Amino acid sequence: MSAVVVIGTQWGDEGKGKIVDYLAEKADVVVRYAGGSNAGHTVVVEGKEFKLHLLPSGILYPGKTCVVGNGVVVDPEILLQEIHRMQQEGIDTSSLLISNRAHVIMPYHRLLDALDEENRGEHKIGTTKRGIGPCYMDKNARIGIRMVDLLDAEEFSSKLARNLKEKNQLLQAVYGVEGFDYDTVRQEYLTYAEELRPYVTDTAAALHQAIGNGHKVLFEGAQATLLDLDHGTYPYVTSSHPIAGGACIGAGIGPSKIDKVIGVVKAYSTRVGEGPFPTELLDATGDHIRERGHEYGTTTGRPRRCGWLDACVVKYAGQLSGIDYMAITRLDILDELASIKLCVGYRYQGKLLNEMPASLKVLAQVEPVYEELPGWQQDISGIRKYEDLPPNAKRYLERLSEVTNIDLGIVSVGPGREQTIIMKTIF
Ligand code: IMP
Repeated sequence: MSAVVVIGTQWGDEGKGKIVDYLAEKADVVVRYAGGSNAGHTVVVEGKEFKLHLLPSGILYPGKTCVVGNGVVVDPEILLQEIHRMQQEGIDTSSLLISNRAHVIMPYHRLLDALDEENRGEHKIGTTKRGIGPCYMDKNARIGIRMVDLLDAEEFSSKLARNLKEKNQLLQAVYGVEGFDYDTVRQEYLTYAEELRPYVTDTAAALHQAIGNGHKVLFEGAQATLLDLDHGTYPYVTSSHPIAGGACIGAGIGPSKIDKVIGVVKAYSTRVGEGPFPTELLDATGDHIRERGHEYGTTTGRPRRCGWLDACVVKYAGQLSGIDYMAITRLDILDELASIKLCVGYRYQGKLLNEMPASLKVLAQVEPVYEELPGWQQDISGIRKYEDLPPNAKRYLERLSEVTNIDLGIVSVGPGREQTIIMKTIF
């Protein structure tokens, strides 16, 4: 048995794509279990750039089974665009499996996402406007449309009619905008259904079989711990469960089947969207990190907020997901800094906090307790062995490991597949 979950430990954009891409080469099956096209990562294969939002990155390797699990919300238009792009590039998509229980993003979800954000004014969440929240709202309200419904024209038509009646009323009465035409939406989605039909199946059953047969299964997390609906900086979160436990629900596997959890930790912090960010740098160092790290969103192009690495956040992620090893990414982005700060605690009203505060008011007011460590001020992008890293780089990583009580597993020193230092065998 070998099932590995890779999750983001911070606010997303930790570089999970590169770590997943590295591990996907060794896996037989790669699974997405949460979120939707709000996620985005760029993978470069033989000089060609692929921006993936919904397809698991294993799709870029021949012979891997790729699964879009029941916990994912699927925008059929975006998924089909990605499938077509792969086919144009000669990449085989026949091993793609889409859960028949996954919920479908409808055009009214996208519109409601945008209108709701506008309506919130200064309290906006800063969503990706991909319809993610409204689709999960319908799932929880038990009025959502699943892939299995989409494939049944009669069922789909009746669910669409019921939903459109309600959504059009809401759009017109509350937001003062025109609703959607039933026939147009129905036709559009039934066309998607026919194209997606060959891929749709009971993916949980397929995963049980794969795990039972001893196949290596990689669960590719999207978003990250502090965007988790329950455990993140609510309400500035996404509407799903990016933590490792989310893989059980979002893919339909039991916790005892998970072998290892890898937490991806960017060597500094970033966040897109609104919400508190204790170690945010609103100065030249923050700008330096943003420019050197090209910290602009893959999905929205927004500049990311940048800050020092927050070990309190990583430790919290470790506890929530039972992280076995950290995969450190983008360490090379810090190469030029003379000194680097690591946040090792939060002080609130003069007292050190022992836990991540649930109150955002408190989190917005905490004072980070920093340890200042000397930088290494040398190019580390060509280093391939841990022992060859500059002593100050090792000191930074080892201090992080001490504070979080999580072992180092992988260190990435650049975007290339070869720029990866492996300290622990994962598969
Ligand atoms: P939503 O998931 O589009 O509803 O957005 C909710 C929050 O999660 C916003 O702050 C987004 O910026 C953030 N978010 C969603 N997906 C990602 C991601 O893949 N990376 C980073 N932030 C994300």
